[in-house]
Amino acid sequence: MQTFYIETFGCQMNAHDSEKVIGTLLSEGYRQVAKPEEADLVLYNTCSIRDKAEQKVFHRLDEFKRNSQGKVFGVLGCVAQQEGERIFERAPHVSLVAGSASYAKLPEMLVQLEAGGRRVAGLSLDNDQAFETPFTKRDNPHRAYITVIEGCDKSCAYCVVPFTRGPERSRTSPSVLDEARELARMGYAEIQLLGQNVNSYRDPTPAGFDFARLLRSVGEVAGIRRVRFTTSHPRDFVKDIIDAIDDNPVLCNHVHLPVQSGSSSILERMQRLYTRDEYMRRIDWMKQARRNISITTDIIVGFPGETEADFDQTLALLDEVQYDSLFSFKYSRRPNTSALELADHVPEEEKSRRLAILQEKQRAIQIRRNSEAVGTIEEAFVEGYNHATGQWIGRTSQNRPLNFVHPQHAGPGDGATLSGANLAGTWWNVRVTRAGANSLAGEVVL
Ligand code: 5AD
Ligand code: SF4
Repeated sequence: MQTFYIETFGCQMNAHDSEKVIGTLLSEGYRQVAKPEEADLVLYNTCSIRDKAEQKVFHRLDEFKRNSQGKVFGVLGCVAQQEGERIFERAPHVSLVAGSASYAKLPEMLVQLEAGGRRVAGLSLDNDQAFETPFTKRDNPHRAYITVIEGCDKSCAYCVVPFTRGPERSRTSPSVLDEARELARMGYAEIQLLGQNVNSYRDPTPAGFDFARLLRSVGEVAGIRRVRFTTSHPRDFVKDIIDAIDDNPVLCNHVHLPVQSGSSSILERMQRLYTRDEYMRRIDWMKQARRNISITTDIIVGFPGETEADFDQTLALLDEVQYDSLFSFKYSRRPNTSALELADHVPEEEKSRRLAILQEKQRAIQIRRNSEAVGTIEEAFVEGYNHATGQWIGRTSQNRPLNFVHPQHAGPGDGATLSGANLAGTWWNVRVTRAGANSLAGEVVL
């Protein structure tokens, strides 16, 4: 095997795991190619958070069922961990199945594959360390992910993550800070701290940093201009985190705090470990902060037993919080999870109806909230250029997309510009002139 192809599904943790897997493969002498047809080794880093995500990987594997000669296939990530060796039965052309807790063993597994191994598996979850490698091949030249904690010790009734990513393992604070300093030295301006429950972080060294302390320390690394973090669990969300954001403008004024439901009885059935009131207390801290913190969330509609009255409480919560953005999902039954045993599953059509109502309500809220930004000046960090609209693609500290035109830079290196420069990775003050439901648009302030 000389070449590999990898496709990644799912969350940022998976995206970053792939960066580490790619780096590991490159360091072992493999070369990455852009198409599966060209590769000797085809890898899928998979997600199993909802049934639809899981089905995607089996579709991909089916595409190659008849034409897999000479190739080695591997399934990594959450579907690998969840389905384990059953994958070898379901897709006999797959030779490697490995969950994220086993990536440190990838070099050994590659040796087994090279030796002709046809059922190589890395499925143990009793790993007490997060996967670290010096070879991470980062995809984005300006924004870097750093995993600070892996796994999850909660047991939300709907969620596969504790089964697919295993128990919580925090990295040491020196290793996180060394990585942040190294990234700053390499020129990265933005760092995103990752963890399934990032704020459950607990430094295993005697220094014993909690998440707020770690956040403050990363925010003090010279050269880093923005620090984000995701995802926070409301139960472990302490006021110190807000105080840290208030104290240091490098820490982005955005918090993603998944609520899942606005009904305390559904939250209890979900085993979320907080009530609606407790969640609202955290929202109040953010609203009382000195900085204007944008708040986003995740919501599941149609959890077993969710009545119309429960759903109305979720709608009322949207009115109360005024989220800047949210991700919403129809409840999907997942293997191993305790919600499978609950009665009163909500019919699929009803879930669809609730999802549509929720999304329409949120759209109106976002249009209103975004329009409040018109006339203000925001700092945009440029991610790229949109040739279709002729705008630079930027993002504010609050994580809102802010696209803008620049009179001296009409586009990257297209001859129509004064300098022809690509502005990706640069910072501009932008006056917001227009607002849509999902983005802002404006003009650079020179
Ligand atoms: N069904 C639907 N949505 C789910 N999520 C997690 N598990 C499920 C499930 N079984 C959603 C939650 C979580 C987000 C990442 O995915 O809202 O916060
Ligand atoms: Fe999907 Fe969850 Fe696994 Fe991320 S951790 S890839 S969201 S199942």
